[in-house]
Amino acid sequence: MSKSGVKRLYAVSATVYDALVKVWNAFFATEAEDELSNFLMENLDETRIILEVGCGTARNLEKIYSLNLKFKKYLGMDFSPRMLRVARRKFLDNPAVEFEEGDITILDSIVERFDIILCTWVLSHIESPSAFVNRAQSLLKQDGKFFLILFTRPRWYLNFWLSPIATYLFSTNAGRRRRGEEIQQCEIKAQLCM
Ligand SMILES: C[S@@+](CC[C@H](N)C(=O)[O-])C[C@H]1O[C@@H](n2cnc3c(N)ncnc32)[C@H](O)[C@@H]1O
Repeated sequence: MSKSGVKRLYAVSATVYDALVKVWNAFFATEAEDELSNFLMENLDETRIILEVGCGTARNLEKIYSLNLKFKKYLGMDFSPRMLRVARRKFLDNPAVEFEEGDITILDSIVERFDIILCTWVLSHIESPSAFVNRAQSLLKQDGKFFLILFTRPRWYLNFWLSPIATYLFSTNAGRRRRGEEIQQCEIKAQLCM
């Protein structure tokens, strides 16, 4: 899907996104979400500065608060105005929280360095995921940590049912060409790097 297609997708789904994700997580992503919770509990404290790339409706920031965790500052970036509108409404007048509308494949405007970078369910929308991850991780402080949740190759029974939908929703045009229409996405896994 092209960038404009991705923007359109989230423009129409922003208001129902959180509800849909709750169902999705309950069926497919409990393990990944638990790993994220564990990661946050192990790595957050009141000194930490967090960058979330592709923050969407800021579900992960809600998770941080629901776990009663402290942090110093949170910056969430996303290119969907509708998703950000939902996110901003949740955290009005919170001086530690900032949202920025922008394309996360172009991170040149960010000069700050971060203790934690979060990126969940976003990579499949990015045309060159490895270039993006390399660029994003250069924004980490020394000993900083990058937590990603991404789609990986599905188990056959998921692949059979979900591939057509997943291909439509998540494959970038370039990725689809590269894989010759082969479907690689769906099973959910949390992946920790660094
Ligand atoms: C599946 S949602 C995930 C949102 C959030 N990370 C979560 O776990 O709920 C994907 C998000 O990535 C954003 N996104 C995709 N490509 C992007 C890009 N190039 N720049 C900025 N945001 C992007 C979309 O707007 C959308 O909000």
